[in-house]
Amino acid sequence: MSLFRLDASIFPSRSASRELADLVESEWLSAHPQSTVVRRDVSADPVPATAWTDAVSASMVPEAERTPGQREAVALATTFADELTAADALLFAVPLYNYGVSQHFKTWFDLTYTDPRTGPEGSALRGKPATLVTVLGGNYAPGTPKEGWDHSTGWLQRVLGDVWGLDLRVVQRPFTLVGVNPALDAFADTAAELKTDAEHSARRSGREIADAHRARVA
Ligand SMILES: Cc1cc2nc3c(=O)[nH]c(=O)nc-3n(C[C@H](O)[C@H](O)[C@H](O)COP(=O)(O)O)c2cc1C
Repeated sequence: MSLFRLDASIFPSRSASRELADLVESEWLSAHPQSTVVRRDVSADPVPATAWTDAVSASMVPEAERTPGQREAVALATTFADELTAADALLFAVPLYNYGVSQHFKTWFDLTYTDPRTGPEGSALRGKPATLVTVLGGNYAPGTPKEGWDHSTGWLQRVLGDVWGLDLRVVQRPFTLVGVNPALDAFADTAAELKTDAEHSARRSGREIADAHRARVA
């Protein structure tokens, strides 16, 4: 049994997304102590920017005529799809950067999406229990000045929940920059509440994916 965990924080030593993902992971492990955790850190070990083009173009030439770069890219996509398909549950910890999705996650997703099992026609991940942890420095809730500026969470939900068909839960913690950026000091109480809520949600989601896996194999 295994949990696949992907981290995308560019500052792992003080990462709010990692902290929340640790809670999800620990609930999963309490329920399934025999499980292994397969880790992929797309920030520390980024997917080469050329891999996606190589993998896409590889599909247009006969196998024998592929360049070494194309072969490597296809092999990497195969590894990523193997990791996802072999796991019993999936955990993604992806922060908001520059109002959009982490470039490291996007590069990983694009390459993984070239494998037939995890691509447009693939259904290998359908129904797999999963949690997306996402953290935002600011707060983009309805009625806030920057409502609509978070172009990461929605996209992540679309590709994980709708495109791959994962049985997805979303844990979100906004305002992680409160306490770091003095301009946000007025929001200390709200941020503390949001942090506590996100921690509860992370624990709950860890238990839920553990139960969902049990139900799937029963
Ligand atoms: C380079 C950079 C760009 C960021 N861009 C945004 C942003 O556009 N909007 C936002 O709300 N927070 C932004 N943040 C804040 C991060 O979302 C926040 O620090 C988050 O907690 C990072 O995830 P981590 O704690 O897991 O490392 C940015 C942080 C960095 C380092």
